[in-house]
Amino acid sequence: MEVRVDANVTLHPLNQGFANDLFTLTNSNRNFLREWLPWLDQVLTVDDTRHFIETAEKMAATGDAHSFAIVHLGTVCGVTGFNNINQPHHTGSIGYWLAQTHTGQGIATSAVRQLLNIGFTEYTLNRIEIRCALNNRRSRALPERLGFVYEGTLRQAEWLYDRFVDQALYALLKSDYRP
Ligand SMILES: CC(C)(COP(=O)(O)OP(=O)(O)OC[C@H]1O[C@@H](n2cnc3c(N)ncnc32)[C@H](O)[C@@H]1OP(=O)(O)O)[C@@H](O)C(=O)NCCC(=O)NCCS
Repeated sequence: MEVRVDANVTLHPLNQGFANDLFTLTNSNRNFLREWLPWLDQVLTVDDTRHFIETAEKMAATGDAHSFAIVHLGTVCGVTGFNNINQPHHTGSIGYWLAQTHTGQGIATSAVRQLLNIGFTEYTLNRIEIRCALNNRRSRALPERLGFVYEGTLRQAEWLYDRFVDQALYALLKSDYRP
């Protein structure tokens, strides 16, 4: 079921109907996304995107993750969602990316704001995390805008093609959440 974010933006649970658009978007933003996302070399054909979506659908079915296409005025412009949900502990971790053409408009912030609502209510989460590479200023601005608490730095927590990078860890607790 699609979720409305605002007048222009909706979130759609990933399904194979998005494979072609999502692959095209990934391909045309390869250089932009490669700066901070580690998986670009694993998505070289539309079949790789299909495989990613298949995994996302399986994880959604078990409640272990929920990934969404971000659709802006009818056009797929990115992906966001809970990359993983730890059901026994009621924690979830949010990720996001946008096409470069769609940055600078608040789309990702609004989408994540809506995910917080779904996460704390529908998925009964108690703690929602966002991890960003320490130097990924644009990404860090999201949790900071949304009232997350910076809890510290995870040293060399991510392998980015040719180097380890530190991650800033942000979290928001249900008790601190103001819709
Ligand atoms: C991370 C990423 C999604 C952030 O994109 P973004 O466009 O900066 O984020 P938003 O869509 O929330 O937009 C915020 C920008 O829009 C502006 N804006 C305009 N209207 C806005 C609104 N109503 N609400 C919030 N921001 C608004 C903000 O000022 C900000 O611009 P600024 O950085 O120039 O100040 C994007 O840079 C990206 O996909 N990067 C590559 C992948 C990546 O790093 N993913 C995260 C890995 S942890």
